[in-house]
Amino acid sequence: MEKLRVELGARAYDILIGPGLLEQTGALMSGLGPSGRVAVVTDENVAGLHLNNLRAGLAASGIEMESLVLPAGEATKSWPHFSRTVDWLLAQKVERGDLVIALGGGVIGDLVGFAAAVLRRGVRYVQIPTSLLAQVDSSVGGKTAINSEHGKNLIGAFHQPALVLADVDVLGTLTERDFLAGYGEVMKYGLLGDADFFAWLEKNAPAMAAGDQAKRIYAVKRSCEMKAAIVARDETEQGERALLNLGHTFCHALEAATGYSDRLLHGEGVAIGCALAFEVSARMGLCSQEDPSRVRAHLAQMGLKRDLRDIPGDLPGAEKLVELMGQDKKVVRGTLNFIMARGIGEAFVTSDVDLGIVHKVLEESAT
Ligand code: GLY
Repeated sequence: MEKLRVELGARAYDILIGPGLLEQTGALMSGLGPSGRVAVVTDENVAGLHLNNLRAGLAASGIEMESLVLPAGEATKSWPHFSRTVDWLLAQKVERGDLVIALGGGVIGDLVGFAAAVLRRGVRYVQIPTSLLAQVDSSVGGKTAINSEHGKNLIGAFHQPALVLADVDVLGTLTERDFLAGYGEVMKYGLLGDADFFAWLEKNAPAMAAGDQAKRIYAVKRSCEMKAAIVARDETEQGERALLNLGHTFCHALEAATGYSDRLLHGEGVAIGCALAFEVSARMGLCSQEDPSRVRAHLAQMGLKRDLRDIPGDLPGAEKLVELMGQDKKVVRGTLNFIMARGIGEAFVTSDVDLGIVHKVLEESAT
């Protein structure tokens, strides 16, 4: 088992990564002093696959659990399911010192984390991420949120978990599409700050996607290590943390344009967004043209979407997509910030982006 620490002083916590963690949950949580009962929130898909293992993993340490099973899918990150969750936790008499468990992907982690942030002005929660995307990104760092009709993740709070348990065995139950979508976020770490990791992925990611457990553990660990270090330096995204949004400005506009539907999964949007960010960077003379070509070649190697034309169905034009980017949380006083790159592993934040080039790159990517 690999162990990382997110160094946040009084709010520091461990990320444990390895196989078979679910079955040991009670023992792994023992340092948190759990009471004899925990409240678990999950979704329909995950419940069928993993809830019994979690129950057994808690029972082995004498801990009972109650569970709330929500519908699967992005639509669950909404006020109705949020208020249902908070009311259910109150009905379970969850107290200030108790632990709530979020068992699921990014939707469950974000919603339950936000519920834990406001319940009795803050209770502790454990993230047990069951998707690759959640293991390498959303379960770490304390960003919690639900969506608004005005955009994604616009209602939320920073609330750090007390522990993250990333059981790599659960990745074996993901569909190929979900695994690859999560891979978009893994690749992002190499592109934003670690060229050696990107080179490792170029060599090893196909075997990792095919099921190589040791490579999966390394990829999750390296991703979490990078995220933990960035979060420790910039918890509330005053600066450096924004680098984790490489590809996301494009991605959020594409997700809004496709109605947050199955047409485009978040990680697929991140993959396309990374390719576009590197293309814009190259056209602005920030990096060499070889860099976007290398990103696109790797996405092709992995069978991931790389262009707007890979998204099924019609999309709005470049003008509308740029307008949708205006709802991004990286807009500061009306100025849209982008994450651009000086090379692979060298991302930086800037508002100095030529929107004419952005338009052109979006148009070319769509046709
Ligand atoms: N997913 C980006 C962040 O946690 O900052």
